[in-house]
Amino acid sequence: MKISVVGLGFVGLSLASVLASKGFNVIGLDVDVIKCKKISNGIVPFYEPDLKQVLKNGLKKNLEINNNFLSIKNSDIIFITVGTPQKSNGAIELTIIKKAIASVGKIISKSKKNPIIFIKSTVIPGTLENTLLPILEKESGKESGKEFGLISNPEFLQESTAIRDTKFPHVIVLGGTEKKYLKKAKIFFNILHPNIPIIITNYQTSEMIKYANNSFLATKISFINQISSICQNIPGANVDDIAKAIGLDSRIGKLFLNAGPGYGGSCLPKDVKAIMNFSLKTGTTPLFLEAVEKINEQQIVNIMKLIKKNCGNLKGKNIAILGLAFKPNTDDIRDSISLKIIKILLKKHVIITVHDPMAIENVKKIFKNKINYASSITNVLKNSHCGIIMTAWPEYSKITNNHIKNMEKRVIIDSRRILKNSKLDCNYQAIGIGS
Ligand code: UGA
Repeated sequence: MKISVVGLGFVGLSLASVLASKGFNVIGLDVDVIKCKKISNGIVPFYEPDLKQVLKNGLKKNLEINNNFLSIKNSDIIFITVGTPQKSNGAIELTIIKKAIASVGKIISKSKKNPIIFIKSTVIPGTLENTLLPILEKESGKESGKEFGLISNPEFLQESTAIRDTKFPHVIVLGGTEKKYLKKAKIFFNILHPNIPIIITNYQTSEMIKYANNSFLATKISFINQISSICQNIPGANVDDIAKAIGLDSRIGKLFLNAGPGYGGSCLPKDVKAIMNFSLKTGTTPLFLEAVEKINEQQIVNIMKLIKKNCGNLKGKNIAILGLAFKPNTDDIRDSISLKIIKILLKKHVIITVHDPMAIENVKKIFKNKINYASSITNVLKNSHCGIIMTAWPEYSKITNNHIKNMEKRVIIDSRRILKNSKLDCNYQAIGIGS
């Protein structure tokens, strides 16, 4: 069986590597020639724990990396894992996926196989039926359901645990219309992931499941962030004990109840915006999600208030930012709240020094010499009037009085409460703890 994966980002490269390491014949395709060269040499173009090793295993077995669509001819299965970026109005940009699908269509027109094409990219309901299927039929000259099958197969992996999530997903969702191909797809996934529930539905519902999933995760985060803001005004209240207690109610669940600076990353903010935009088009005002988004934005205002309250006039002050990645164990800074705070502080003429164990190089490309870069916790805090912990990197939970001794003013604002139990000799302020 020949499997192709089109688009080698977090999802595509993890999937191609895991499938190849399990012994499948896999072609990983990406139009970026430089990226393909790196990956062929075992270099992962971004930081993702465990991916390097799984990629190496895959390359030793049957993983071939290619940038030419001809290489995927005669595939039995084609996964589409290209990006669907955000437009300025919140809607998603389909140019990349349309191009990829057109190329796949042209290739399968010459194929002897009747492939299944799985769409893993996140697309709004109606995209498969109204946009992708017509392109495939036109370019291939073949009929869907007879000579190929098109199936929606949303992905739920998280960056930083991409390999674990690819190997052990919590659910497989298959959205389609053609029974023959859905049956084949079910057999394939039953072999790949025995004992994992498979939900079979139609295109639109499957596309909507992905948005419902990410919107609900964003909802949990905004919910706890709302509670956290209330806690901050109750002297002594602690949002983590509240999250722990309510999380033990199985109707609520303990995950995604970590209050913080708001959700960032390449998915939750984009998907919430896209489904809100789509919702309006269908005639439903997304009142609930509007609130989820507003609370997310409010967290930045809350952090700014804490900074001002504890530092006074900000002009010319030195502020240290600890953590730039949108979460630990990644170098991804897309939609990172940390960067939003830096932009606001720069406008207020603050002198900024930043630290991150993984993401510094990506941040340098954006801020260049407008900010200072430190390679250690001690150095980032040196001479600063305030240190702000933005990402819950484990090393930040080990900050001691030694690290903060050269601060100009010992003010620590901890947006993740990872230092709440340390006995630091400083003015400690945290999101979600009443003072
Ligand atoms: C998210 C979803 O969790 C995945 O299931 C989904 O597949 C993925 O988007 C996607 O659509 O591709 P990811 O973007 O990797 O995954 O990041 P998350 O782990 O969800 O974190 C998103 C943001 O929420 C981060 O800024 C994180 O710090 C924040 N967060 C998360 C909190 O503030 N509190 C929490 O309790 C959890």
